[in-house]
Amino acid sequence: MAVYQVRLINPDINLDQTISVPEDEYILDLADAMGIRLPSGCQQGDCSVCVAKLVEGEVDQSEQSFLRPQELEAGYVLPCIAYPRADCTLLTHQEQVLYHSSLYYKNAEEQAS
Ligand code: FES
Repeated sequence: MAVYQVRLINPDINLDQTISVPEDEYILDLADAMGIRLPSGCQQGDCSVCVAKLVEGEVDQSEQSFLRPQELEAGYVLPCIAYPRADCTLLTHQEQVLYHSSLYYKNAEEQAS
């Protein structure tokens, strides 16, 4: 079984830790097991609480049902249901960024047009 190195970063909270995650384990579960406290809510891929951004690497998050196609394309990841498929770097704590970029910003754009 493959085991990947997943680097969790967020400069705002001085987070920079790398964990080893087997290909059949969720990234959030392993982070939790290693004592890294990340935001989490439903733990089923149904909300945005845990959202992170994939800076590098590849994940399988086919179980997710929250992110829209353009958000997936932009690199947003729900670590609670994401399996690593390569060594990865994830920028954590991105819920506010997601909402700002996809909802509020879009609404402001729509209102302006
Ligand atoms: S905690 Fe809800 S999608 Fe991850």
